[in-house]
Amino acid sequence: MVLHNHDEVVLLLGAPGAGKGTQARFLAETLGVPHVASGDLLRVHRQKGTPLGRAAQEYMDRGDLVPDTLVVDMIVDRLDEPDAVRGALLDGFPRTLPQAQALDWRLQQRGGRIRRAIYVEVPTSVLVERLAGRWLCKTCQSTYHEMFNPPMTEGVCDRCDGELYQRSDDRREVVANRVAVYLRDTMPVVERYDCLGVLQRVDGNQSIEAVKAALLNAIGDNEPVPA
Ligand code: AP5
Ligand code: MG
Ligand code: ZN
Repeated sequence: MVLHNHDEVVLLLGAPGAGKGTQARFLAETLGVPHVASGDLLRVHRQKGTPLGRAAQEYMDRGDLVPDTLVVDMIVDRLDEPDAVRGALLDGFPRTLPQAQALDWRLQQRGGRIRRAIYVEVPTSVLVERLAGRWLCKTCQSTYHEMFNPPMTEGVCDRCDGELYQRSDDRREVVANRVAVYLRDTMPVVERYDCLGVLQRVDGNQSIEAVKAALLNAIGDNEPVPA
């Protein structure tokens, strides 16, 4: 089978703490495309102190969404990089209907398409506990959890020996806003892909290994998607 440009665009949708980042690495490797996470890209911009990073800061600290135009430009630029010629696993994008429309437009120009939108479903009540115990690697973005997935050595990444840190937007009050924003702005995006017939639901409220198996199952099916 000949793959055209951006033929392998897969979306990973789900609430804050649903497990998108945790599953993304292996999923991207399986698909043979890069993992493109809007939140990770924005955090790199913040670390570097770029104009985009400075503009995004106040929104992220409150748990609000960064304005669509800024995020769309950032993702479109990322999709132009050579490693994304076949497509990408998008994590955390699109998050609003205008972002979804901008992605459609972009893919139409390239003859690309969204092969699957995978929705990792987790009850809202589970999210706060997951985020409060989360630790991330500063170097490779691997995720850990104090109880559910602890690193072998406290504070150190198993994969790359990088230093682990906690995200400032994982504080309880900010998490509450992130979840509210998700329900208001991103659930319509989930419904949209459901209506378009590309949505695949995966139960995210099971062990990390069980979610992984369910995701493999979800992407294993290569049926053509409805137009
Ligand atoms: P972003 O970085 O995208 O954060 P998020 O969507 O809130 O999602 P998280 O990264 O918090 O959750 P996750 O699903 O990746 O969970 P994880 O795998 O780490 O966005 C941050 C901010 O950037 C936004 O608030 C916004 O300001 C801005 N932004 C980003 N994208 C934007 C966009 N498109 N438009 C506008 N603004 C944007 O897992 C969480 C924890 O649970 C970990 O500790 C993990 O070990 C544990 N865990 C995972 N799976 C399981 C399991 N099955 N069982 C038990 N524990 C588990
Ligand atoms: Mg994440
Ligand atoms: Zn690491």
